[in-house]
Amino acid sequence: MKQEIEGLRESFRSDLAKAREERELEATRVKYLGRKGLLTLILKKISDLPLDQKKEIGSLANSLKKEITALLNKKKKDLESLKVSNLQKEAIDITAPGSKFPLGHLHPVTQVFDDIIEIFKRLGFSVAEGPEVESDWYNFQALNFPKDHPARDTQDTLFVSEEIVLRTQTSPVQIRYMEENKPPIRVVAPGRTYRRDSDVTHTPMFHQLEGLAVSTDIRFSDLKGTLEYFVHEFFGSERKLRFRPHFFPFTEPSAEVDISCGICNSKGCRVCKFSGWIEVLGAGMVHPQVLKNGGIDPKVYRGFAFGLGIERLAMLKYNIDDLRLFFENDLRFLKQF
Ligand code: DAH
Repeated sequence: MKQEIEGLRESFRSDLAKAREERELEATRVKYLGRKGLLTLILKKISDLPLDQKKEIGSLANSLKKEITALLNKKKKDLESLKVSNLQKEAIDITAPGSKFPLGHLHPVTQVFDDIIEIFKRLGFSVAEGPEVESDWYNFQALNFPKDHPARDTQDTLFVSEEIVLRTQTSPVQIRYMEENKPPIRVVAPGRTYRRDSDVTHTPMFHQLEGLAVSTDIRFSDLKGTLEYFVHEFFGSERKLRFRPHFFPFTEPSAEVDISCGICNSKGCRVCKFSGWIEVLGAGMVHPQVLKNGGIDPKVYRGFAFGLGIERLAMLKYNIDDLRLFFENDLRFLKQF
């Protein structure tokens, strides 16, 4: 019987080691200490033993019972604390700061558009848009480019059909706006334009902003004041402006506007081609025929117009030397804005 008890101790230890869950632990308890448990059976038999063995076996069996009970309790506690620590590992700390989601931002072209529009809004200009697929009439004829007019050559037009083009400029919005609105007019028209052209300073798609003001008493000095305000707000008040005579079919007189070079402070550098000046936009007084084409009487009303290239202004403002960077969408470039 002594051996039997020793054997039980061994087999209990190995059973205990195998138990990984409370359920298995309980099964082990029942196996040894349950009503028909292995040790219980031994304990029951003790009363039948002769007196001299009773004492020794009895104390052996009882101490094994104590040992088993203690070990079961300890293992039970261990399993419980393991469970708790596992739960703790899985627990979510709702007070922890969230992991950061990389946040995008507006494209630099959009940002520059927004900045420019904001400046013209302060002068009372509203915003209009027109279609990118445009008729020859709005893109050219209504703007005083008759068919076969040599000025069409400067536009590198992309044709959809003989009478339909991808607009080469935002100027057609002038006509569309005049058709729909009565003077006084003060409007800017931002948008995409298209030309068959591609190098460091040209992309087949680019952005322009058109400006138009029509009223009874508009003069060239209003155009100058407006553009001066814009340039000083956008580039800084230290910039100088220069109006150079130029030709556009839809304005008369016409001018190109240069600003003093901010890179060399007008001393002359590669960017300004050593002239100290950089061309930024075209402008002029709206040609009477263009007013007429927009349904406005040129005997009563006069207007000025201007057109700016958005990428060009962005390049000058942020010192970017390749226009194509705007459209490659390389994040290393875009992230700098
Ligand atoms: N549409 C001209 C171009 O794309 C830019 C321009 C020049 C617009 C003079 C105007 C203007 O409104 O008055 O080259």
